[in-house]
Amino acid sequence: MRASRESAAADPAAGGGRPGTHAHRRAMFAAMGSTPASILDAMSRNFEPWVARMITEGKYTGWITQDGARPVASAGLLVLDWPPHPLDLTGEHRGYLLNVYVDPDYRRRGLAHAVVDRCLAEAHRRGLRVVALHSSDAARSIYEALGFRATNEMFYVEPVEG
Ligand SMILES: CC(C)(COP(=O)(O)OP(=O)(O)OC[C@H]1O[C@@H](n2cnc3c(N)ncnc32)[C@H](O)[C@@H]1OP(=O)(O)O)[C@@H](O)C(=O)NCCC(=O)NCCS
Repeated sequence: MRASRESAAADPAAGGGRPGTHAHRRAMFAAMGSTPASILDAMSRNFEPWVARMITEGKYTGWITQDGARPVASAGLLVLDWPPHPLDLTGEHRGYLLNVYVDPDYRRRGLAHAVVDRCLAEAHRRGLRVVALHSSDAARSIYEALGFRATNEMFYVEPVEG
């Protein structure tokens, strides 16, 4: 098994996309809820150019673990602009952890823990003191073991018109 950093270049072997990320992101949302396939498809189409741009701009670092050519585990770290805050008085950025997914055939071997740990190492390397995420029920214990704790975040989502 081999873990590598994602590149911005499209991979012909993956149909012109990245070998794992966008498929894993789609599978992650499918596993976490009942989002219609059409919504997941549209998200994936839009995600593909977005993540290539973010990698090129140095704002996204993704890790893919492959078993041979098969992508089996992924996670990504996105760097967000963020104002100075009591948790980080001088920092101007936060990390956001996303796209955590492990192929069902490869679960409970520590692969999620390992890719998330790589993201945290990257956050540390970049001097990011705060890393946020939104957890599925399945992943919560992994994040807690790595030091994450629940906060008071709330969401406002613009209602869909029509
Ligand atoms: C959640 C998910 C990423 C976990 O992936 P995973 O690779 O199985 O995770 P890990 O192996 O690192 O840890 C899972 C459990 O296996 C245990 N484990 C790790 N190595 C093990 C081993 N060699 N033998 C037995 N158990 C092991 C871990 O301690 C952990 O136990 P816990 O649930 O009691 O805390 C995966 O189930 C998944 O992709 N789910 C669907 C999408 C999702 O929820 N993504 C997260 C979005 S926030």
